[in-house]
Amino acid sequence: MTFRLISQALTHPFAIGSLSLVLLGGLRPCVLTAQVQPTTKDHHVTKDGDAETPRFVNNLLQKMTLEEKIGQMSQIALNQPQDVSPDQRILNGQVGSFLFLSDAREINRLQHIAVDRSRLHIPLIFGFDVIHGFRTIYPVPLALAASWDPAMVEHVQSMAAKEASAVGVDWTFAPMVDIARDPRWGRIMEGAGEDPYLGSKMAAAQVLGFQGDELGAPDHILACVKHFAGYGAAVGGRDYDSSDISDEQLWNIYLPPFEAAVRAGSGSLMPAYMDLNGVPATGNKFLLQDVLRDKWKFDGFVVSDWDAVLNLTTHGFASSPEDAAARAVNAGVDMEMTSHIYRDNLPAAVKDDLVKESTIDGAVRRILTTKYRLGLFSHPYVDPSKSAAQLVTPEQRHAARVAAEQTAVLLRNEGALLPLSKSLKSIAVIGPLADSKPDIMGSWSLAGHPADAVTVLEGIRKRLGAGTTVSWAKGVEISRGQHSIFDSQFPSPQPMLKTDADRDAEFAHAIDLVKKSQVAVLVLGEAQNMSGERASRSTLTLPGRQQQLLEAAVATGKPVVLVLLNGRPLNITWASQHVPAILDAWYPGTEGGNAIADLLFGDANPGGKLPVTWPRSVGQVPIFYARNLTQIPNAPDTRYWDGSSAPLYPFGYGLSYTTFKLDDLKLAAPSVQAGSSLMVSVDVQNTGSGAGDEVVQLYTHQRSGTASRPVRELKGFRRITLRPGEKQTVTLQLDTHDLGFWSSQTRHWSIEPGLFDLWVGTSSAATDHATFTVLPQ
Ligand code: BGC
Repeated sequence: MTFRLISQALTHPFAIGSLSLVLLGGLRPCVLTAQVQPTTKDHHVTKDGDAETPRFVNNLLQKMTLEEKIGQMSQIALNQPQDVSPDQRILNGQVGSFLFLSDAREINRLQHIAVDRSRLHIPLIFGFDVIHGFRTIYPVPLALAASWDPAMVEHVQSMAAKEASAVGVDWTFAPMVDIARDPRWGRIMEGAGEDPYLGSKMAAAQVLGFQGDELGAPDHILACVKHFAGYGAAVGGRDYDSSDISDEQLWNIYLPPFEAAVRAGSGSLMPAYMDLNGVPATGNKFLLQDVLRDKWKFDGFVVSDWDAVLNLTTHGFASSPEDAAARAVNAGVDMEMTSHIYRDNLPAAVKDDLVKESTIDGAVRRILTTKYRLGLFSHPYVDPSKSAAQLVTPEQRHAARVAAEQTAVLLRNEGALLPLSKSLKSIAVIGPLADSKPDIMGSWSLAGHPADAVTVLEGIRKRLGAGTTVSWAKGVEISRGQHSIFDSQFPSPQPMLKTDADRDAEFAHAIDLVKKSQVAVLVLGEAQNMSGERASRSTLTLPGRQQQLLEAAVATGKPVVLVLLNGRPLNITWASQHVPAILDAWYPGTEGGNAIADLLFGDANPGGKLPVTWPRSVGQVPIFYARNLTQIPNAPDTRYWDGSSAPLYPFGYGLSYTTFKLDDLKLAAPSVQAGSSLMVSVDVQNTGSGAGDEVVQLYTHQRSGTASRPVRELKGFRRITLRPGEKQTVTLQLDTHDLGFWSSQTRHWSIEPGLFDLWVGTSSAATDHATFTVLPQ
């Protein structure tokens, strides 16, 4: 296991270390040096209330040398070239944190070195990217947002935290709350999509899920909201490219989910890699001081992204590594991930008066305070004998399956082709993703085991009895033409078909199976390594020959269901006209195959809604619903002469096997005072024949003000379940605080009195309309 973990770490995106160095560093039996002088563990107190924390931390800080302080500010991954072995660095007090360890025994071994044998016995904090599950993989974050169900998302992340903490992981680098309006950007998959309101709800839910009610809650871990800020606006959707964001967009679109995560108590935060308006986020005082600390009063600690401190020189920002260290720490980056810039340069920077020791003390105080509040000083160890039994438990699998069912979005269902009958005589399951275990899990499944995952083919086979023939073929193979940073860590299946003749034969075989079956389910989309970090694209088409396969399957005349596995909207414009049923399953995780079978055969009813606007083609991006009203607003779909400028599917869209009717929209009053709230209600009835979920969505538009405002903005939603015929009055509280905005004219945030439009419906194209007036406070 230890070897597996180290070999995992070796292959991280920025792996630069050599195997021999890592193995020497990671596994060498630790050697006590003369400088290790165990002292009494007088600070090993039990976790206490907040009043005790500063006294404890200050007391400890007073005993620390500058080197030990800088040690706490250093995080290492075992794939770095280690001039000093990790064990020795712990003994020397030169490291405060590790990332990427996921083996309880190894975590304990390192923790024992820190706690028993380092001079001050300060525990380490172990971080890991628990993005959508740890060993049990849940749907990717974009899919979680498609549930429009913050309570479920909170539960999912609390389950992920439970598994991670069972092996001794204390800290996740999540949630990612970057607003993304450009599906070319591969990391759109890791966030909640395009909307700041939905994004804020998902941000808060995830923080609460990871951390529980307070830092140190049992079975929970520290959250790290990232990547502060504007990473999703990378020019051209190219990962790591810089972002240029106006103040108006920054305050109204990109910052709100971060503020929500901070308000929900995220104990740590990670600045982004790129330049924001010309200043690298990792050295950006405006972001890290003015906004984060001064305005939002964030009291957690800030950890850099991978090598981001070092890269301040690469950006052409810092003049030298010493300058980089000074500028990062002075901007507010408390801990450095992976590079040695702090360790190697901060002592000189303090001596040269580039950094005040009080600044270092502030950073260390925040890190130690967090460790203390997490309970690491009193309970530094995990019980490895109990870890395995807590992984992929039936409870985890159940939660993963429910989540996958709740996140799927039904995009089309002509002639009620879905749900399929369980008494079909034959069904062909076709496509390169239909029986691929890694691909159903999605990127950032680093602690997941593909063997645990259930593919779509397996799910369908389990669901159908002996009376149904289930046949399957890949039809085509797909692969990224280019190496992915995660390939060796978490590979997708490699193409097996070597010649054109082999490929043509496989294609023909798949179509033959379609011809011989009553129904075909085509499982298409992107392999998991085509989406995520460093996985941006210049097109959105179905990779490889999948489009041809789909067209050939439809040409047989057999009913075709398209199941998409994806982390971004793809170009399915042809399919939206020719394939009768389309189910977007995203990357649904370990239980994906079972959940998709539940959905296909009607044991579950899709109720997810798009958290992103779905373009017709890549030429439309960036595309988002909350655009401003400008010249000729009545013809917004005719902005291009060579095609529609309307999206294929609007934000908030998603069908169900049943139907719903909304009626009787009511506002509690025609006006509301700024600072208070307005109750808005609507009757929702299930008018179909099966139980199902609907998401009631509330949008507003400010008619006039100091700046023009978007045509619509989401300001409330609720997902409900109704039995056939059941009717429910859904009441949403419209908080006028959510109507406030930062105006480029006044250059401040306010709620502006005046007339507003309001729509309630089941997507951003909602038609039930009313108006109300906001009165001055
Ligand atoms: C990513 C972060 C991630 C970190 C550690 C970086 O490349 O940008 O999101 O948390 O690696 O894996």
